[in-house]
Amino acid sequence: MKLLKLSIVVGALFCMASCCCKSSDLPDYLNPEKDIEVRIDDAMARMTLDEKIAIIHAQSKFSSAGVPRLGIPELWTTDGPHGIRPEVLWDEWVQAGWTNDRCVAFPALTALAATWNTEMSALYGKSIGEEARYREKDVLLGPGVNIYRSPLNGRNFEYMGEDPYLASRMVVPYVQQVQKIGVASCVKHYALNNAETYRHTTDPVVDDRTLYEIYLPAFKAAVIEGGAWSIMGAYNLFRGEHACHNDLLLNKILKGEWGFDGAVISDWGGTHNTREAITNGLDLEFGTWTDGLTMGKTNSYDIYHLANPYKELINSGEFTTKELDDKVRRVLRLMYRTSMNTDKPMGSLVSDAHIEAAYTIGTEGIVLLKNENNILPINLETTKSIAVIGENAIKMMTIGGGSSSLKVKKEVSPLEGLRKRVGEGVEILYARGYVGDTTSVYKRVDSGQRLADDRSEKELIAEAVDVAKRADVVLYFGGLNKAKKQDCEGTDREGLGLPYSQDKLITALTEVTDKLIFVNISGNAVAMPWIDSVPAIVQGWYLGSEAGNALAAVLVGDVNPSGKLPFTFPVKLEDTGAHSMGEFSKDGEENYGEGLLVGYRWNDAKDVAPLFAFGHGLSYTTFEYGEASINRKSMREGGRVTITVPVTNTGSRAGKEIVQLYIADKEASVMRPEKELKGFAKVELAAGETKSVKFEIEKEALSFFDDKQHCWVAEPGEFEALIGAASDDIRTSVIFTLK
Ligand code: GLC
Repeated sequence: MKLLKLSIVVGALFCMASCCCKSSDLPDYLNPEKDIEVRIDDAMARMTLDEKIAIIHAQSKFSSAGVPRLGIPELWTTDGPHGIRPEVLWDEWVQAGWTNDRCVAFPALTALAATWNTEMSALYGKSIGEEARYREKDVLLGPGVNIYRSPLNGRNFEYMGEDPYLASRMVVPYVQQVQKIGVASCVKHYALNNAETYRHTTDPVVDDRTLYEIYLPAFKAAVIEGGAWSIMGAYNLFRGEHACHNDLLLNKILKGEWGFDGAVISDWGGTHNTREAITNGLDLEFGTWTDGLTMGKTNSYDIYHLANPYKELINSGEFTTKELDDKVRRVLRLMYRTSMNTDKPMGSLVSDAHIEAAYTIGTEGIVLLKNENNILPINLETTKSIAVIGENAIKMMTIGGGSSSLKVKKEVSPLEGLRKRVGEGVEILYARGYVGDTTSVYKRVDSGQRLADDRSEKELIAEAVDVAKRADVVLYFGGLNKAKKQDCEGTDREGLGLPYSQDKLITALTEVTDKLIFVNISGNAVAMPWIDSVPAIVQGWYLGSEAGNALAAVLVGDVNPSGKLPFTFPVKLEDTGAHSMGEFSKDGEENYGEGLLVGYRWNDAKDVAPLFAFGHGLSYTTFEYGEASINRKSMREGGRVTITVPVTNTGSRAGKEIVQLYIADKEASVMRPEKELKGFAKVELAAGETKSVKFEIEKEALSFFDDKQHCWVAEPGEFEALIGAASDDIRTSVIFTLK
C-alpha cells in the first residue's frame, strides 16, 4: 500500500520530468529543488479544510492521512526504541501476520547508555533507522529518555538512566543518525513519565529547578543538538494539564524556549481534551480512546479531538484556522523531511551489519559489577564443565514488555550463545532453577518457546544444586523479565527484590560452590542480599538478537567488558530519594519530594553507600589515574578551562576505560547536589599504555537553573573538578575559580 502511494508520487515526479518538463514545471509543493518552507506554503494554499484536518490525526493504529488528491503520501509511524515493531492490523494492536517483517532487536536503551560511548549511539541510530526505512516507516517512536528516578519504574529499560548529562549525550547521535536516513525520531515521553501503573492520571510535582536540571535536559539536547523532527507527549499530567496538550511544556518550553519546529505527536491515548489539544501545542493525535496497550474504540478516527470535533469548532467560529495552520505546517514539515523526501537511502532489514551492530553495542554495554579472585573471564583451557542455571538463560526477552515488543528474525539466548562459543571441549549442564514467566506468545507474536514446567520449587532448586555441585563454574542467569510488574510498560515493580524466589535459589547455590557468577538480565536495579557469597556479578541487560553471543564473548574473555552503570543500584529501596523523600507511582499529584537528589545525587547528599554506584563498572584489566592538571586556575566570563588527566592501563590486556568528570560548586548560594556529571570520555588503552584525557569546561557545566530569574546561572566562586572511574570512585581533583 505504502509502496504503491510512494511510487505514485515518484511516478508523478518521473513522468512529469520524463516528458521533457523540468522540475521547474513542477508545482512548488512537488518540486524537490524548492525550499521546504516554500513547498509547505504551496501545499497549504492548495489544501481544503477537510484535508488540513485529516493530516493532524490518525487514520489507523499507526498511520495518519496524506493528501491523496495532491499526491502527498500518508505518514507511517512504528515502535519502538529497540527495533521495528511487526506490522499490525489496520486498527488493532496485534500483529498482522506478515512474513516479511522480522527484525533485529538491538540492546535495550539502558544497555546503550551503559556503553557511555556516543559512537555506539550513532551506530544504533544508523542501524535501527535503516531497518525503519526498509520497512517504509516515516517516524520511529523512540528513543525514550525519561529519567530513572526509581528502580521500580516498569519502563526504565527503554530509557537512558538516572543522569541528565549522560542521557543528553547519548540521545543526540541516535536521533541524528535515524534522521539522516529520512526517518523521523519521535523522542519520548515528554515529560516526567517516570512511572507506569498510574501513568494516565499521575501529575508529578516538581519545582522548576528540578524540571530544568533533571527531567528536561535530555529532551532539550534531542531537540536542539539532535534536531529531533518529532516529540511524543507523555500520558501523565503536569501542573494540571495532560502532557500531550500542555501549554507550559509544549508551547512555552518546547516550541518557545527551544524553538522546536517539528511535530508534537500524542502518546496513544494521551489526548483527553479538544480545546486544550487545539491551543496547547498538540500537532498530531494518535491512539485516542485506547489505554496505549490493549483496548481501543474501533475506527474512531473521525471523532478524535483533532478531527470532526475540531472542524465543528472552526465552523462554529469559536476557533479560526490559526492553530490549525500551525499544526498543518508542522505535520507537512515532518512529511517533507520523511515521506516526501525523495533522496532517502533505501535502508535494509536484518543485514549482517545490523546483527554486528547489535552484538557490538551489547558487548560494550555489559557491566562487570564484581569479580573477586578474577574468576571471570572463564578460562576455557582449564574449565571442563560449566553449570548454566536460570530461566533467563533460555527465555526470549525480545517479546513482551509492552510497545517495545518485537518479532525478531533471531534471538540468541545466553545458553545458546555459550554452547556455540565453548564448543565440544567444555561440558555445559543446564538447570532451570526457577519458573518465572512462561508467556511465549505476545500480541500474536509466538516465540516458539514452551516454558511451562510444573515441577515444584523444591525439585527445581534440588536439580540446580545438583548440577552446580558437578561443575567447575556456575553461571546463574536470573534477574527480571518482560512480564507485568517486572520490566514492562503499563505496570511498575512492587519491590526491589528478585521475583520467583530467586534469592532462595541463589543462596542454595552459594552453599555448594564458591565459583558462582550471577548474570542479572534486567533493565532495573535489583536487591542482592546474598552478595557477599557471590564472587562475580555481571549486569547483562536485555541485549536483543545477539544477547547470547555478546554475553558469551564477555564471560569467556573474548571481549574485555567496558560498560558502566547508567543508574545506581541501591542496597534497599529506602536508599533512594524517590522512596524516602518522594512519592512513587500514584494517582493524582505525585510529589517528587527528593527534587534534584535523584540517583547518586541522593547517595552523596545523604552519605548513603550504594550497592553499586552510578558509573561503576570493572574490567579484566586495571587502570590508574594520574594527577589532574588544569591550564589556568580561574575561568573568565565566556572562557573555559582545560583539565588533563593521564590514565594508564596497568593490567595485562587491552581495555576501555570510561573516565568521568564531575563538577562541585563549592560556594553556591543555593542548594546544589554535591557533584554532578559534566563530562566523560571512553578511552581504549593497550596494556601498559598511558593516554592524556582532556576535558574542556565552560560556564554551562558550572551552571544551575535559577528559577527566580528563569535562566541558567553560573555563580562566580570556587569549583572543584572531580575525575573518577565511578561516582563513588573519585581518583583525582582540581580546584579552580570562576571570575
Ligand atoms: C504506547 C507507549 C508509546 C508507544 C505508543 C504506540 O502506549 O506509551 O511509547 O510508542 O503507545 O505503541
